[in-house]
Amino acid sequence: MDRRAFLTAATAGLLLPPPATPAAAAVSSSRTLRADPFTLGVASGDPSSDGFVLWTRLAVDPLGGDGRGGMPARDVDVDWQVATDERFTKVVKSGTATARAGAAHSVHVELKGLEPGRDYFYRFRSQGRLSPAGRTRTTPQGETPLTFAVAACAHYEHGYYTAYRRLAEQEPDLVVFLGDYLYEYGPSGYTALAGRVRSHTPGKCRTLADYRLRHAQYKSDPDLQAAHAAAPWLVAFDDHEVENNWAGPVSSTGAAGFARRRAEAFRAYYENMPLRRASLQGAALKVNRRISWGTLARFHLLDTRQFRDDQACQDGVRAGCDDRLAAGRTLLGSGQWRWLESGLNDSTTRWNLLGQQIMVAHRDYKVGPGREVNLDSWDGYAAERTRLLESLARTSNPVVLTGDAHMHHLAELKTDFDDPDAPVVARELVASSIASDGDGYRDRTWISEALQENPHISYIDQRRGYLMARLTRDELSVEFRTLDYISRRGARARTAHRLTIPAEAGDAAARRAAAAPRAG
Ligand SMILES: [Fe+2]
Repeated sequence: MDRRAFLTAATAGLLLPPPATPAAAAVSSSRTLRADPFTLGVASGDPSSDGFVLWTRLAVDPLGGDGRGGMPARDVDVDWQVATDERFTKVVKSGTATARAGAAHSVHVELKGLEPGRDYFYRFRSQGRLSPAGRTRTTPQGETPLTFAVAACAHYEHGYYTAYRRLAEQEPDLVVFLGDYLYEYGPSGYTALAGRVRSHTPGKCRTLADYRLRHAQYKSDPDLQAAHAAAPWLVAFDDHEVENNWAGPVSSTGAAGFARRRAEAFRAYYENMPLRRASLQGAALKVNRRISWGTLARFHLLDTRQFRDDQACQDGVRAGCDDRLAAGRTLLGSGQWRWLESGLNDSTTRWNLLGQQIMVAHRDYKVGPGREVNLDSWDGYAAERTRLLESLARTSNPVVLTGDAHMHHLAELKTDFDDPDAPVVARELVASSIASDGDGYRDRTWISEALQENPHISYIDQRRGYLMARLTRDELSVEFRTLDYISRRGARARTAHRLTIPAEAGDAAARRAAAAPRAG
């Protein structure tokens, strides 16, 4: 059975003979649940060379109004199995985890001791019910090629998740998700041009129960479940997992009680994502981390929300904001900045992929003389961006992966965007949205004006989609995938644009030496 057949069968529940191991068979409770608790699917994430995180969350009634998914107020045992074959005849690990009522009956199993660079299959069992099965993968040793998808921004009301389905069908080794996994707005709180195809749960998310319920609604979607079941994910949040355009401790609305709201949104995010336990740190959530794909690539995942200074000049897209250039402004915060810089400096992999949320490339939104910039993006933190780009200039084959924009972009990153002769230090690949902003379009006049204003940007596409990339020792080839519509189900995905970035000759040390300032 190939992976696609596996996915189809797994999501249809066809591959599930009862677990046969003693550990799995031993677990049961005299009390049983009245319905299938595996309505939110399964997921895996943060692979290492010998393991990964497995996730599920029990909910017999996902849209039960209190965010508890219709589950009883008691802990429930959940068996898990990991096998090397999709029929689970070769189970290599199994055990029992506790889905705690206090954690919305979520389960995070962190595995170790597996073999590097191979597929594994996993599933859960509880109360006599079996979950769908998922496929995941450990990272390899050496320079084994990698196929990975990049996705972001999936507003549930704006359209169906066909892009998730198409991404799953392409069977990547890894999915990098760069934020706006869900949106906090109440029904029609943020509408797409073409209206909505379905409705958010009632009310804007403000409390733990609200966020839990919203996560459950999103996770109930079968196309999203298929994307999680297809591959391990690396996830990082942006703003909407909490609130539009929040910044560090500051709510964009100035409303009181934001610290508590943020902590509750983080908690719900952790409960619903395949993240390691170490990411939840009291009221904070640590998502900046590194994942190595053998010696081929290192992913540096950033958090551009939690530690940033407030947006300059009251945020928005505007002209004439000198504060955005202030030397002391920070987007990453000093701790994360030091962590990133040392991680870039000591990286020995051939490629270095920065996974982060907002556009790094300068983007002038004003056609003609003068400029207007988005103060929520790196343009609002220009001095730190320059330092970042100077760091990337000393890094082996850096590529920046970005979400947020709801349009595909391909940009060349330079330490001086106003100088046409400034050297390109990295490429930025911006993934359009899975669903946010509804059916896409292609406004050729608008695009050609935007490209003219921003000569370092060579491609923009306003349709929905995702990126599919193939990375080898010698090159990164990227497909910008688009869908013609999402207001109805069933759109095909196509490659609207393709790009190959050759690896630079020489190793990291050579690049560092070449980029070092020359004496005299
Ligand atoms: Fe978004």
